[in-house]
Amino acid sequence: MSPVPVTGQQFGAYRLDDILGRGGMGVVYRAEHLHLSRTVALKVLAPELSRDADFRGRFLRESRMAAALDHPSVVTVYDAGEVDGSLYLAMRLVPGEDLAAVLRRKGTLGFDEALALLGQVGDALDAAHVAGLVHRDVKPGNILVEGNRAFLTDFGLTKPTQADMTAMTATGVFLGTPDYAAPEQISGSRLDGRADVYALGGVLHECLTGSRPFPRNAQVAVLYAQLHEPPPRPSELRPELPPALDGVIGCALAKAPSQRYATCAELLGAARSALEERPTAPRHVVVEAPPTAATAAIPATPPPAAAPPAAPPPATPPPAAPDYRRVKRGRSRAPLIAGAIAALFVVAAVALFALGGGDDSSEPPSSTRPARVTGDPIPVGKRPFGVAVTGGRLWVANNSSGTLSRMALDGSGRKDGRVGKQPFGLATTDDAVWVVRTASDSVLRVDTQRGQSTTAGVGDAPFFAAADGDSVYVSSDDGTVTVVDAASGKARGEPIQAGGSLRGIAAENGTVWVADRANDVVKRIRDGKVDKTIPVGDNPVEVAIGGGAVWVANKGSDSVSRVDPDTGEVATTKVGGEPFGVAYGEGHVWVTSGADDKVWRLDPGTGRRSGRVVKLPGQPTGVTVADGSVWVTANDAGTVTRIDPGSS
Ligand SMILES: Nc1ncnc2c1ncn2[C@@H]1O[C@H](COP(=O)(O)OP(=O)(O)O)[C@@H](O)[C@H]1O
Ligand SMILES: [Mg+2]
Repeated sequence: MSPVPVTGQQFGAYRLDDILGRGGMGVVYRAEHLHLSRTVALKVLAPELSRDADFRGRFLRESRMAAALDHPSVVTVYDAGEVDGSLYLAMRLVPGEDLAAVLRRKGTLGFDEALALLGQVGDALDAAHVAGLVHRDVKPGNILVEGNRAFLTDFGLTKPTQADMTAMTATGVFLGTPDYAAPEQISGSRLDGRADVYALGGVLHECLTGSRPFPRNAQVAVLYAQLHEPPPRPSELRPELPPALDGVIGCALAKAPSQRYATCAELLGAARSALEERPTAPRHVVVEAPPTAATAAIPATPPPAAAPPAAPPPATPPPAAPDYRRVKRGRSRAPLIAGAIAALFVVAAVALFALGGGDDSSEPPSSTRPARVTGDPIPVGKRPFGVAVTGGRLWVANNSSGTLSRMALDGSGRKDGRVGKQPFGLATTDDAVWVVRTASDSVLRVDTQRGQSTTAGVGDAPFFAAADGDSVYVSSDDGTVTVVDAASGKARGEPIQAGGSLRGIAAENGTVWVADRANDVVKRIRDGKVDKTIPVGDNPVEVAIGGGAVWVANKGSDSVSRVDPDTGEVATTKVGGEPFGVAYGEGHVWVTSGADDKVWRLDPGTGRRSGRVVKLPGQPTGVTVADGSVWVTANDAGTVTRIDPGSS
């Protein structure tokens, strides 16, 4: 069952038309008030929060205060209340994007644009402070941009307390971001308007540099930095920024409120003076937005098999691989500090890149190497999806041919074995390749040394499998995850009931993450139960683990979600059209976007694109990282292509 109302449904006096976004406290819909015929943005809070009586009281009280705020740069609140136990807030729908999306698209803002937008936000904040209200959650995601106008949302909205959070995290809702939170807010001290000055300073820093004030991999590292580390120096990140700006950010982000600007107007006035003393050289170069072409439809998520499960035809597995050897797996998780340093380095590289007038097509700095295709595409069967490397061989599941191709890494000596209808995902264990067979509701274990095979029945319409230790997890469209014993190839115990329509799955150290495309969430499974459910993008198809995060490719929203496995915090990066495959290895995250024929390299620390996008014709789909290379199946072309991962 869906944890939140779905679109198309009536909710109190409203009809829910579309999802505008998801946040730390719930889902925001485009909705229509049925009697007034007014289109609104309707925020429906997570059921876990709505159930909490204390929280409910505070929410309704504080939304009254927010509704009383009447400022041209504050999103007007129309209505707040409760429907069937779910709290909601109706507000003016601001057409456009939030500032977080603008920054993802553009990298940074020009000085004038940044000052003009944040000037409006600062005005609204100063007016609220005079009225005794503190926003407490100023961040790019709460600044909605419509043309050259900015609107602050979530004003004065109550933030869950620690007690609420404990209840929430226990049931899988995640915390908001500490990226802009003032030290006194983190330590739970009394707040006044200067906490918002601090946050606005952080947002200004990000608008000008493209970097959060304290870019760290883990939330606890961000919290620590907010409390103890010196404020960032924008001119060090982007040498074209005047050093005078360092002083302005330093003052806005001072640890003690008494050391900060007293008002937002003071902060923005100081920033304007600093920026106007800027040198005459070109100062602002927009980093080109990743292309998001919406092109040809791609049948990358085949519908579940309509036919009743047929008995799988006897498999003829490929013969033994005599030159079997252990293949080096992807790099293990980098230590936290190394990750943080890597993230800083990437920011510096982006700054250099922009200084050189760079965009997507220019040469990156010499310290980095873009990923690139090596060699010719290797022909395989029809509509290949899963790709794996094990036993020193390359294996590909050809969905339309009903075969498993096995060949040397250079594509030579290819042999195809029949494996039954609709083989889809592949997984590997030490001495086996696992083929998920959608049409026959089963997984086939193929011994890479002896060529023998075993079959285990799984749920209805399985697509993907993940191996971890002595288990292989197979996810099915019927919401089950079947655990198969890696050695015997037989199902172990009853399937796990995860619910929804399951697609991609990944597992590490006994923790399993699985995408549920029916509910647009990723679920964490531990000890045989779903213990966390995290909203991601639309139609999540594949999942990978690596670089300190869980990665989800959202085919319907052309994005990748970076999920912090500890906090559940989600960062979203736009990639190309209809991303399907995601894998981690060689220090990067790899994403295929089949609708525009691209392969994306993302930085695991930030989730953002790292270096040039690789063009790969023929609808790139499945991806794996092995033997120092990235391997991609092209579904339309019927090929596998090897990519040199480069470096960043
Ligand atoms: N009034 C609005 N008009 C249009 N879009 C909105 C509005 N309010 C929120 N959104 C969209 O919904 C997303 C989620 O909002 P929200 O739940 O407040 O997230 P968060 O918890 O991160 O602040 C926002 O980033 C924005 O894109
Ligand atoms: Mg918000």
